[in-house]
Amino acid sequence: MLVQNADLFSERPQNLGYTKVTKGLGIISTNGVKWKEQRRFALSTLRDFGMGRVQMFDRITNECQKCLNNFTEQNGRAFDPDQVIGVSVCNVICNVVFGKGYAHDDPEFLNYLQMMHSDATKVGNTAFMHFFPILQFFVHRALMKTDDAIRRGFIATQVQEHQQPFDEHNLRDFVDVFLKQMAERESEEKATFHYENLLQIVGEFFFAGTETTTTTLRWAILFLALHPEQQTVVQEEIDRVVGRDRKPTANDRKSLPLTEVTILEVQRLGDVVPLSVPHAVAEETVINGYRIPTNAFVIPNLSSVLNSKELWGDPEVFRSARFLDNETKLLKVDAHIPFSLGK
Ligand code: HEM
Repeated sequence: MLVQNADLFSERPQNLGYTKVTKGLGIISTNGVKWKEQRRFALSTLRDFGMGRVQMFDRITNECQKCLNNFTEQNGRAFDPDQVIGVSVCNVICNVVFGKGYAHDDPEFLNYLQMMHSDATKVGNTAFMHFFPILQFFVHRALMKTDDAIRRGFIATQVQEHQQPFDEHNLRDFVDVFLKQMAERESEEKATFHYENLLQIVGEFFFAGTETTTTTLRWAILFLALHPEQQTVVQEEIDRVVGRDRKPTANDRKSLPLTEVTILEVQRLGDVVPLSVPHAVAEETVINGYRIPTNAFVIPNLSSVLNSKELWGDPEVFRSARFLDNETKLLKVDAHIPFSLGK
């Protein structure tokens, strides 16, 4: 459906609680040219500044080191790693977007992270307000408050710092590249490169990237604690390929198949975005005999695929070998869709 009929099912509904907050801005809840232009720009710019590239590994390993230091400081006491992982994940995104990260005990930054976390529980796909619109009135006020603090406080401050002085010959991060586009395309009719969109898009990176990645890492800790034998397999592979005297690099990845499949299995069973993001139907269509009217709200059930008995045989079992076709060769499994599929 999302692949074969991508043009039909890739719309975003415009009548949900949070679309009143985003007001047609950003990527996650927009349609048409606005969505296409900014999605393409975001993907290529994030890639230029490291997503999936070697430089990104430095940022990630630096933050990993901070997490490890924090874990070591606990001296074996029981503790909740949620906050320290969340700060590190968000710092990696901050580095790409703002060119800098924040201290792990920065009270203002911690407060913004806490606000985002609390918003994530209000706007999920099955949030009550989507089905009982009267509730939108109350949730909307709460969302606006958080949104104002994050967009107009945290993000706007960073953007202003980037604007003075702004050197278009030294583009340091996502915000700089966006500001350059803003200056160049100012006169365009229906320009999507404008200040309000920049605040919204950066907010969406934090919102969409922090909670998902942090939760995946927390699942990884839990699954590896529950399966010490798997932990040993991963540790042995890392020790053999990377050793303990240096940090891993992007080039090591291809030599770490057992670690790779462990991550795939954590993503499958962790299932952190079980119902993806809301989609809508561009025009009336019939699927399996059911009429789906134009603009109908469609919830892609990723969880039903990631946990399908038919597709995986034993979906409830943590078994990373399901992603291997012999001892070390990675198998491409189409049903592995933690990031959804289609457009
Ligand atoms: C484990 C990590 C992540 C998971 C599981 C995840 C999952 C998803 C899923 C399921 C969607 C909906 C796709 C669709 O139906 O169209 C999505 C969209 C999106 N994600 Fe992620 N994501 C992750 C990390 C990130 C990160 C790190 C960022 C940015 C820094 C990000 C930015 C976005 C954006 C901007 C969209 C909207 C795309 C669109 O509307 O076309 N995500 N993500």
